[in-house]
Amino acid sequence: MKLAHISDIHILSLGGHGLRAFLNKRLAGGANILLNRRANYKNEVAFALVDDMNSRGGFDHVCITGDLTSLALKAEFEIAGELLAKLRGGPPGVSLIPGNHDFYTRGSEREKSFETAFGHFMKSDVDLGVDARFPYLHVRGDAAIIGLSTGLATGLLFAYGVLGEAQLGGLERALSHPSTQGKARVVLIHHPPVKTTKFLRGGRSLRDAGALGEILKAHGAELVLHGHEHEDLAYDIPGQDGAAIPVRGVPSASYVGRHAYRHARYHIYQLERQGGAARPTLVSREVRSYQAAGGGFADVEAVPLGVEALRT
Ligand SMILES: [Fe+2]
Ligand SMILES: [Fe+2]
Repeated sequence: MKLAHISDIHILSLGGHGLRAFLNKRLAGGANILLNRRANYKNEVAFALVDDMNSRGGFDHVCITGDLTSLALKAEFEIAGELLAKLRGGPPGVSLIPGNHDFYTRGSEREKSFETAFGHFMKSDVDLGVDARFPYLHVRGDAAIIGLSTGLATGLLFAYGVLGEAQLGGLERALSHPSTQGKARVVLIHHPPVKTTKFLRGGRSLRDAGALGEILKAHGAELVLHGHEHEDLAYDIPGQDGAAIPVRGVPSASYVGRHAYRHARYHIYQLERQGGAARPTLVSREVRSYQAAGGGFADVEAVPLGVEALRT
């Protein structure tokens, strides 16, 4: 089973909106984002990335770990919707979760813009006993994919995330659900599942990472995928009975700025059952990255950062 992972697409479009629609979040945040994003994040690169995925194939399912938009504006949701509609395999072939930018304004949170635009990618296969959309469980081939939401409208200049007790309870039920038996349990979460203490990263971290870690340690999981940091990250967190859970972060799907090691890319993870193991586990990954010269995508040998990139 092969899973493609993309994240932090950050579609940017003011569409018909005037400045007021986003400046009400936050003058500084909005203006900053606009200046930076316009230069470094390109909608057309995300479209080229999807074209590359479609023409190459070589994966069974696509996981998207949030921040599809930049300012959670209607025009951005529409363009992101057009992008996802292009993905071969359609909604059954995609598992999608939101990021903090998808709730950038209180209006978008209140109006449930994300759920309205992408609800069809997030229907749970089973009832996990939660009132809300998250977590959901998608059983696809050898994988049981669990989608979480950490997104909420935060205060000025903050980008932290929260799961909350109801979702954590649902996650416990998902990890031990009978339909996940013999499957690789893959958890999708926008924020890294660890406390990030690095300067300027602390205010962007997951508030209940500790509680999440306890649940993952008690029940185990075979892979955790996240975005948010716009970095290629690979590290382990403690799993069940001393096992390690691999955690992988992928850079933004539209970044073309001066840091080539963070250029737009997607990862493909191979999950395979080893010997008599009860569940498939992660055996390898491939990286397809944007090439500044020529603008296409190519295989690259990338060296991921470790957890110390988040902590020190
Ligand atoms: Fe992001
Ligand atoms: Fe984010």
